[in-house]
Amino acid sequence: MIYGNKVGVRDSLLAQMETLYDLDLTVDVFAPAELLDVLAAFTCAINREISVYISRSGAILDITIGNMGSVELRDMHLRRNTRRLSMIRCIHTHPGGNPQLSDVDISSLRSMRFDAMAAVGALEGRATGIQAAFLGEYAGGVNQVHVTPVTPVKKIPQRAWMEAIERADMDVLRGVPDGLQEEEAERAYLVGLDSEQSLDELERLAQTAGAVVVGRMLQRKGRPDTATYIGSGKAEELSLCCQARDADLVILDDELTGVQARNLEEILRGVKVIDRTALILDIFAQRAQSREGRLQVELAQMAYQLPRLLGHGVAMSRLGGGIGTRGPGETRLEMDRRRIRRRMADLRREIEALGEQRSLRRSRREKNKVPVVALVGYTNAGKSTLLNALSGAQVLAEDKLFATLDPVVRTVRLPGGGEFLLVDTVGFISKLPHALVDAFRSTLEEALLADLLVIVSDGASGEMLHQHDVVLDVLKDLGAGDRERIDVINKADLLETLPDLPGALAISAQTGVGLEALLEKIRLKLRGAACPMRVLIPYTQGGLLAELHSDARVIREEYTDTGIAVEAVADEPLFRRFLLRLGEKAVSRIG
Ligand code: GTP
Repeated sequence: MIYGNKVGVRDSLLAQMETLYDLDLTVDVFAPAELLDVLAAFTCAINREISVYISRSGAILDITIGNMGSVELRDMHLRRNTRRLSMIRCIHTHPGGNPQLSDVDISSLRSMRFDAMAAVGALEGRATGIQAAFLGEYAGGVNQVHVTPVTPVKKIPQRAWMEAIERADMDVLRGVPDGLQEEEAERAYLVGLDSEQSLDELERLAQTAGAVVVGRMLQRKGRPDTATYIGSGKAEELSLCCQARDADLVILDDELTGVQARNLEEILRGVKVIDRTALILDIFAQRAQSREGRLQVELAQMAYQLPRLLGHGVAMSRLGGGIGTRGPGETRLEMDRRRIRRRMADLRREIEALGEQRSLRRSRREKNKVPVVALVGYTNAGKSTLLNALSGAQVLAEDKLFATLDPVVRTVRLPGGGEFLLVDTVGFISKLPHALVDAFRSTLEEALLADLLVIVSDGASGEMLHQHDVVLDVLKDLGAGDRERIDVINKADLLETLPDLPGALAISAQTGVGLEALLEKIRLKLRGAACPMRVLIPYTQGGLLAELHSDARVIREEYTDTGIAVEAVADEPLFRRFLLRLGEKAVSRIG
């Protein structure tokens, strides 16, 4: 399609012009002389300006007839909300033969933030010469402009002009005050090989990280391409889609190798490429609050970065900032390997020390024998809301993924007496990056060591059963597959029919429906997990009473003629210890 003022232009000429769209420019050529000659010939035939817009990757995006200044570029090609270059260069003709750029040309360069603006003089069917201009650093409220001398079209220093664009890419942000540099939401294009559902989840992750999703592509393919993940043809198509939607960021729904990332970045020229893992790490980086959480995120980011230094390092530093580059170690992501390794060793040491403190706290808690119940479940299932509802605590509950990163512990009282500790844990997710499972192992330990797991599922999600499987898989990975558990289906207030999960209890953490039944189930399970017992301690062995107080939960004690009759909830080993010491007559199970 040829755009602009086509009035009076013969159809056959328009058809000829249209064939220009098929030209394939290589990425290191600014504008081939043949193209410029043809443009000059057309210009002379219709005596009007013609503008051609070329993407950074060499595709001809748009051909427009009419005065450059009056031509309205359809906004789909322009990157909005950004002070960066548009990734598009504009080459247009001047009927009358003068190849010099006009003031209007220069102001369009500035306002449209073109990669380059070039004018070609057209006279007697031939190109008389070309002049190009590139944006430079920001000074005096505007970007400076660097203009080349007028050059014959056959003598264009093609490579040097493409390098001038790359330089401009960096220069335009130089000198821009910080406030102005802040970009609005990044525009992300999602790409997956898996399924629409997996892409839906990626979309929610991208939104949680603060991006706007402008498009998605599902390439059904058995195995990822080793060079580009989606195949080079598809990658070219993706490049065009990104230009059409002004995407600054492509997010792949899987983990990329360093080579795949580098190749894709090359094909997508200037669009940042990250994968699901980097995205999740980025969200974790924004959300981790405790010192331990932040150290773990930094460690995971470094572990992820290390083998990819060649791939991402260059492009990331060139593109600077934004999703995939944030985190506690932001300024350190560009360190060299040796320094990264050293920092990782320090981090591990620090995390270990914090872990020891935590296990000290835990062992004190264990002595008190208060049972521990952990809430686990897919991200956004409603764990924090449930914790709040059961304990009256105010923990951040948000309709965003991974609102909870650090374990939160609260005391919950049971209606019939007794209490337990309730632990909220990080939400699970499918394809949870391995680096993260490891990094958060110590955080998840709370869950692993719990007496009872409450697996919370989001009944309102169409993917509930799949998510439930993921949770069980991760638990198995962590060695907690056989832990005592209660299944609950949350958000029952939104449901007309319940998903088919045998034995599960329907609740609504928000309205409170089913919570009493849940507490009752927890009470019964905890009683089963521990070992309620009756002991008769002879007065001669009074020390044993102190031992029970310290290691078990004493429910009742009565001083009788034959000794102290005690009812207590202990664990199995303690029960056996007492049995051995006092014999069957004095020690028995209750119920
Ligand atoms: P992560 O921190 O990502 O693991 O999430 P989470 O499992 O802790 O979920 P959270 O409690 O933050 O809840 C997620 C969203 O679901 C919030 O918008 C809640 O308001 C909503 N939600 C939780 N429980 C219910 C419920 O019973 N009914 C309804 N309608 N919405 C609920």
